[in-house]
Amino acid sequence: MLQIFPDSESIAEFVSRRLVEKIRAKPDAVLGLATGGTMEPIYAGFVDIAHEMRVDVTRVTSFNLDEYVGVGPDHPKSYAAYMHEHLFTHLSFDRERLHLPDGLASNLETHSREYSDKVLKSGGIDLQLLGVGSNGHIGFNEPGTSFDSRCHVVRLSERTRKDNSRFFEGNAIVPESAITMGIYEIMQAREILLVATGESKAEIVAEWYRREVTEAVPFTVLKRHTRARVLLDAAAASRLPSAVRGAFSAVAISGLPISASA
Ligand code: F6R
Repeated sequence: MLQIFPDSESIAEFVSRRLVEKIRAKPDAVLGLATGGTMEPIYAGFVDIAHEMRVDVTRVTSFNLDEYVGVGPDHPKSYAAYMHEHLFTHLSFDRERLHLPDGLASNLETHSREYSDKVLKSGGIDLQLLGVGSNGHIGFNEPGTSFDSRCHVVRLSERTRKDNSRFFEGNAIVPESAITMGIYEIMQAREILLVATGESKAEIVAEWYRREVTEAVPFTVLKRHTRARVLLDAAAASRLPSAVRGAFSAVAISGLPISASA
């Protein structure tokens, strides 16, 4: 369930190899994708390894977790633009199979329902990548979101907007709301890899470790998933008890061995 790596580069390599392994085992795999700073080295690593190993991604389907409301794919800070910049343009994906919520949808509630249906009708997500907010959100499911929630429109917390203001230069305003896959769709994924890197995640990681499963810390729901792994670098793990850091460092993995989950 928990694995601690020395740095974000080694996590990127681990996740990239897992993605390759999954796509090789199932060329029409359905991936659940995240954005954010945490994912940048991961997509860079995956692009490199996919080129090197000549991985065929043409039949892969993907669903992104979220998108800002009021922001279209041409907006430089949209998650659609992020995905094109960091992943989609670098490999031979079939554009028709790449899905993100539409932040400009005229009826956001209807669009959210349709997005949720599309995820479930695709056969469900084989491998879901997640980051975590400093307040414990996954996707944009902020603290207090029901674990039964499906794809929906969410008002972003001030903390999340402040955290994400680093991606918006100058006076550009971080949108107030977003569409996000719900905890329900996330938990339906057959395998989940959550990545947390850097000192700014150390407190929420320690809280995740300490607490029972609670909607107050959405990230804790992963304790209920039998094939979810939390991958930390040393900085994100720094506030865990030292015995835990020792037990889960380097090669120690509690959960399924990687080869069994392809
Ligand atoms: C992004 C997403 C968010 C981020 C989280 C961490 O698609 O769903 O949950 O994963 O906010 O963001 P970073 O990696 O920028 O710290």
